[in-house]
Amino acid sequence: MANLSAVFMNITKESKIVVLTGAGISAESGIKTFRDAGGLWENYNVEDVATPQAFDSNPILVWNFYKERYKQSKTVSPNPAHYALVELEDYLKDNFFLITQNVDGLHNVAGTKRIIEMHGNLTECFCINCNAKYKLEKINLAQDIPICPKCNGYLRPNVVWFGEMPYHLNKIDTLVSQCNYFIVVGTSGIVYPAAGLLQLAKYSGAKTIGINLEKPANIYSIDYFYQGKAGEILPKLVKQWII
Ligand code: OAD
Repeated sequence: MANLSAVFMNITKESKIVVLTGAGISAESGIKTFRDAGGLWENYNVEDVATPQAFDSNPILVWNFYKERYKQSKTVSPNPAHYALVELEDYLKDNFFLITQNVDGLHNVAGTKRIIEMHGNLTECFCINCNAKYKLEKINLAQDIPICPKCNGYLRPNVVWFGEMPYHLNKIDTLVSQCNYFIVVGTSGIVYPAAGLLQLAKYSGAKTIGINLEKPANIYSIDYFYQGKAGEILPKLVKQWII
């Protein structure tokens, strides 16, 4: 692996670093990425389980799908790539921010504190009537369609479905346009608006770095690209950066 110290010669605790992660960072924890799933997501058509229309027409199927994902999430653990980002945050403190497209919650389990989950988190749900938010562990998941304890409305998983707006876009825009380094890890660069953040960072003057198994679709906006597994590459890079 090339030595990145030339790029990061000027890295100090004052450097502002924003990291964007996608499904690839959790691949080594045993969670299938979206593109690798071959159009199916754990044997379901994505449009049958991850759209607001699907929830309208068959909420029980949608809930069964997310109950399974929730169960699976308890059987997996963060990998060295998740932990490397915790190390980077410990070094940079408030100058670090992590934006993730993943809903698996593994960055939280690893210990990342400054995090935006732009597509939500599958360990949570909210009421479509009164908007109250709950941890799934506090909800009776034996119900076919879990019901809000406050107002008896239907609860839905707190994940952003296809056709819905990702969360916290204003804050994301500010963070990305003000950072010095923007690092993307394990994302195909296909799904917008997340895929457009690289371009925003570059236009705003940041150095951009990519770590991915395959070349992402938006590789043209990456200044320094490292091809391979995040769990192998990221810990080595972070060690170099924080010396
Ligand atoms: P994808 O499945 O599109 O892409 C995963 C990327 O990770 C691919 O480019 C792989 O080459 C790469 N990859 C796989 N294993 C890796 C490893 N060990 N180390 C590094 N890279 C690896 O997943 P995302 O880009 O995250 O949205 O998908 C973006 C969004 O599309 C998701 O958040 C989801 C989906 O539709 C919603 O659900 C709204």
